[in-house]
Amino acid sequence: MRITPARVEAKDWGWRHATRKDFALRGLDFDIRPGEHVLLLGASGAGKSTLMAGLAGVLGGSDEGEQEGSLTIDGVEAGIARGKAGLVLQDPDSQIILERVGDDAAFGCENLAVPRDETWRRVRESLDLVGLKDIDLDRSTRHLSGGQRQRLALAGVLAMQPGLLLLDEPTANLDPEGVREVHDAVRDVLARTGQTMVVVEHHIDVWMDLIDRVIVIGHPDPDSHVGGVIADGKPDEVFGEYGDLLARGGAWVPGRAIPDRAPARVRADRREPALVTEDLGFGRGFPLGEHIDLEFFSGEVTALMGPNGAGKSTLALTLAGLLKPLAGHVRVRADIAEGARGGEPDKWKSRELLGRIGMVFQEPEHQFAAALVRDEVAIGPKSMGADEARAYAIADEMLERMNLSRFAKANPYTLSGGEKRRLSVASMLAGAPRILVMDEPTFGQDFTTWTEMVDLIAKVRDRGSAVVIVTHDEALVKALDARRIMFGFAGE
Ligand SMILES: Nc1ncnc2c1ncn2[C@@H]1O[C@H](COP(=O)(O)OP(=O)(O)OP(=O)(O)O)[C@@H](O)[C@H]1O
Ligand SMILES: [Mg+2]
Repeated sequence: MRITPARVEAKDWGWRHATRKDFALRGLDFDIRPGEHVLLLGASGAGKSTLMAGLAGVLGGSDEGEQEGSLTIDGVEAGIARGKAGLVLQDPDSQIILERVGDDAAFGCENLAVPRDETWRRVRESLDLVGLKDIDLDRSTRHLSGGQRQRLALAGVLAMQPGLLLLDEPTANLDPEGVREVHDAVRDVLARTGQTMVVVEHHIDVWMDLIDRVIVIGHPDPDSHVGGVIADGKPDEVFGEYGDLLARGGAWVPGRAIPDRAPARVRADRREPALVTEDLGFGRGFPLGEHIDLEFFSGEVTALMGPNGAGKSTLALTLAGLLKPLAGHVRVRADIAEGARGGEPDKWKSRELLGRIGMVFQEPEHQFAAALVRDEVAIGPKSMGADEARAYAIADEMLERMNLSRFAKANPYTLSGGEKRRLSVASMLAGAPRILVMDEPTFGQDFTTWTEMVDLIAKVRDRGSAVVIVTHDEALVKALDARRIMFGFAGE
């Protein structure tokens, strides 16, 4: 499948989201030649997804924001260049729309009114290209692994034969196996189609072998939120020449070691666990794990690791008292449960959970309860009994450390991907509950925000909370000196 590669030009381009007074990006200039493979870098909130959305033509009209300059694909304004760009996002769940694999892959083509026979020919070819050749077109999309779902999303985009392939953190939510699958699929696709490609990714190493140019956007000065191109060139030039600047600006620069974090200040209290599971069976209607006996201790971080689909998120929700066990029990230590009805959190009311067990959901949005960022973070401390002034003082400090202060009065839903993640983590850390369960807290973070988050989690641990983290982030596990629990597949 050869596809005519697109040329992309930004001339003094900028975009201001309607609800913001500052431009997310401004004064952007570059010219991407047909067939180039570009890695787009920038700190969390630098405007990468805004640019990708602009290129994909999904930023919306003047109701949604204000545009400056021009952004074109093959000379056509990106906003009206229908079918020229195809975008794959971070979260497979948000882009898999239809129930059956084949229908889902055909969805984009059908939207472009490609004739039916031609659509199915392309769908089959695209599935083949992303390594899903033998998949049953009638198979349910719900039972695919994370890597398979992202490859399906890629196939759906490919079937539209866009000259410009846009990937916005396509592997952020995947286990190492899924990351490899998606990387290899993209490699094979590019080799066969010759498309122009722009990929956004904080963890640069994944894409290094496929890219021939790096464009860094944003501004090294965090107080000036004016975007622009900071660096642009071949990968080794950019990392060689601007390595220090990028590292200071918060990028994960290839080849640079992660400095060790301070070890735990207090020894975990291993006398009596804060949380135990007794012959626990958990699942979502159908069992994902059975006969599980685990202990979690105060002052210690425990990492639940293993492949996508193994049920780690379901287990996390069960530990946090938000899902009922299918069998057995989850029990909380008496001093933590004191004042609640019994020691089993799944039998508690939500106000009994508040302050005792905090849960950072895999999807930040599932957690947001307030209309303003600052109020969101104040909920935790309030639930722990802090008065207004104290709760907001804690919230403000948390926002400062998480580099979110300037969004204090923004709506949580309008934040960037990484900002939403930080807010959801900040609001749980602010409450410092005795038991804290977090599902992938570090995804989408640049180096600076990652480091800050690690230090804040360590602080809550050292204050004596039992912290349980579902994660694929090896560096996080190491930095928090976490105990590991590995999960395999119970099902297929
Ligand atoms: N829908 C929106 N409404 C208002 N502001 C927005 C919206 N989406 C993003 N922003 C803001 O625009 C800026 C750039 O956001 P963008 O999502 O492009 O960043 P990003 O570089 O992709 O960040 P991340 O690495 O965290 O995903 C941020 O300050 C963000 O808060
Ligand atoms: Mg983004």
